[in-house]
Amino acid sequence: MSQIPIIIDTDPGIDDFLAIMLAKSSSKLDIKAITTVCGNQTLEKTSKNALDIANLLDIEAPVSQGAQIPLDRKLNTAADVHGENGIGNICLEDSSMNFDTRYAWDVIYDEAKKQKGNLEIIAIGPLTNIAIAVLKYPELVKMIKRLTIMGGSTASGNKTEHAEFNIWVDPLAADIVFKAGFNMVMVGLDVTRKTLLSEEDIRDIKDIKSKHSDIIGSLLDEMFKRYKGLENPGVIIHDALAVAYVIDENCLDLKNCNISIETRDDVSVGKTIVNQGNKEKNVLVGVRVDFDLFKRVFESMPLYYK
Ligand code: BDR
Ligand code: CA
Repeated sequence: MSQIPIIIDTDPGIDDFLAIMLAKSSSKLDIKAITTVCGNQTLEKTSKNALDIANLLDIEAPVSQGAQIPLDRKLNTAADVHGENGIGNICLEDSSMNFDTRYAWDVIYDEAKKQKGNLEIIAIGPLTNIAIAVLKYPELVKMIKRLTIMGGSTASGNKTEHAEFNIWVDPLAADIVFKAGFNMVMVGLDVTRKTLLSEEDIRDIKDIKSKHSDIIGSLLDEMFKRYKGLENPGVIIHDALAVAYVIDENCLDLKNCNISIETRDDVSVGKTIVNQGNKEKNVLVGVRVDFDLFKRVFESMPLYYK
């Protein structure tokens, strides 16, 4: 079976961490690079996390750093959700590996050339690196087989009433990416919110003994602590759903939509607006999720690390 070559563009991030673990565990995916972006924490922290995660999981692909700040605004991190170090203050062994010396956008372009139309990107942070890649290399759009993002919402947001965090951090970047013409899939809050893992689900996952049980357990516990205020206790591993979709497309039903991004600095900045009418469709939006399938895909992850 031929594997799907992927680049993960990420801002680890507790759920990014679990999403990377899931990607590495899948025999269907071949991680060609991890590129880092500011978002959940500063670029320095998300990049260190990515390098240490790659070290922990024996990911040999290059880890390369991207944007330090959003395109046209200051960075607002999510330290309240992901902790001061970005991964719930869980300490990993320092990696002895070095970052790739190229910028994230150059790595993406170089790999796209190498993969001759087969490369997929899974972007699970703000879209700053992807926007810079498009601005620098407009031809990239047609060289990427599919861009799957975790971000946006056709209903309410999580950062503000209107906006989801990844889009809200860098709305201009999102605007550039949504308009670019990628074959693009949006895994937004509409579907991730339907994947709340209950306390019992969490216990089941934690019970699977593996080399990384302690870390998986701590990540889930850290998330659980931060989700305590929810009506139903549990955790949503947003970024893992984007990876799960690429592993098994049956996880989501998609609808072809025209989406634009609110970039004006008002209350709805960062909103992903669904435009009705005859506007050309620019993104396939996840509208329904097969939760049982997602759970099966996610729960198979720890088994890989036995
Ligand atoms: C997204 O925001 C980040 O905090 C998470 O890592 C995820 O990518 C969810 O809105
Ligand atoms: Ca993320």
